[in-house]
Amino acid sequence: MTKDPLRTKLCDMLGIEYPIVAFTHCKDVAVAVINSGGFAVLGEAMHTPDEIVADIKWIRERVEGRPFGIDLVLPASSPLSETLDDMLAKIPETHREFARKIKQEFDVPDPKGPVALHQWGGLNQEIARRQLDVLLDERVPVIASGLGSPAFILDAAHERGMKVFGLVGKTRQARRQLEAGVDAIIAQGYDAAGHTGAVGTFSIVPDVVSIAGDTPIIAAGGVTTGRHLAAALCLGAAGVWTGTLWLASRESDVDMIIKEKLLAAGAEDTSWSKSISGMTMRVLKCPWTEEWAKSGAPEVLPAPYQMLLSSDYIQGANDNRRGDLMTEAAGQGVGFLTSMKPARQIVFDMVEGALDALEQLTGEPE
Ligand SMILES: Cc1cc2nc3c(=O)[nH]c(=O)nc-3n(C[C@H](O)[C@H](O)[C@H](O)COP(=O)(O)O)c2cc1C
Repeated sequence: MTKDPLRTKLCDMLGIEYPIVAFTHCKDVAVAVINSGGFAVLGEAMHTPDEIVADIKWIRERVEGRPFGIDLVLPASSPLSETLDDMLAKIPETHREFARKIKQEFDVPDPKGPVALHQWGGLNQEIARRQLDVLLDERVPVIASGLGSPAFILDAAHERGMKVFGLVGKTRQARRQLEAGVDAIIAQGYDAAGHTGAVGTFSIVPDVVSIAGDTPIIAAGGVTTGRHLAAALCLGAAGVWTGTLWLASRESDVDMIIKEKLLAAGAEDTSWSKSISGMTMRVLKCPWTEEWAKSGAPEVLPAPYQMLLSSDYIQGANDNRRGDLMTEAAGQGVGFLTSMKPARQIVFDMVEGALDALEQLTGEPE
């Protein structure tokens, strides 16, 4: 009997059917993917400890003991305990002036409430630590760190029977995390949505696989179809980690205006820009990213200061649902999103597409 090509060491480690990981901020998407045989990691970096506890409970009540993950951001570069007001006071007048110019030129409305960044784990290390403590108390099956090495929590997590995944954009980051003993690495390429490095998915994945030994490597960046899943397995990955794919799903709580923009967008409608957070980040192009890309724009501030500066624009656009201004993290694979499908259908289409692609290669039904 031939081996099931979709049954990988990641499936064995997590007890899941398909090696498909959804990164999402939407609990309904997470539960739909988990209950369809995949794995989901919920992004909680923007939430208070109480909100995180409530979300974990909500998921546990719906997945019948199946595992799930929670993602935080743990950048070592963030300030220790500065408050939002301390940080806002450090933004130079030149940068405020440039932001005001954009606001005026594009008629960007004011946000409807205070800037919702005070609880972001990337703002300072005290906030991130409080979020992390909740995950340890709750013994969530998997902790993932989207930014920054999670090596310092390995002992505490392993003592509690939890697994720790690290996301990297460079092979040397992967090497350090592998030496520290992380349980899996997400090797993410330039195509990806959100914070991402300069190395392409086809280059980083096999490079990290080559140094990983038995540790599962999960490919990320542009993975949106079954062909991508098949290709990732051929590159030596034990699964795929996907973000953009779920944004326009039926269950997704993303604003319908953004869903429509995503369905209409192609790879070239994304921008790899530091202008949102101070770190390279792939998002849908919008006036904010385009103005900062022009010559004469001030140099982008380091994280988290640039994020504080951009948040007035982002929140003003979102709160007032101005489609011409709104943006969202989106990867180059966005062009493969063509309809609003239920998450369960997305999982099954990816599985079927991967099996078809592999069958075409070998001439044998898998
Ligand atoms: C809307 C959105 C928000 C994201 N926010 C985070 C985040 O908070 N933490 C994180 O680790 N990754 C975040 N990511 C990146 C994903 O974890 C994932 O690595 C990326 O989407 C993979 O590339 P793909 O979009 O091409 O599938 C985000 C992605 C999207 C689409």
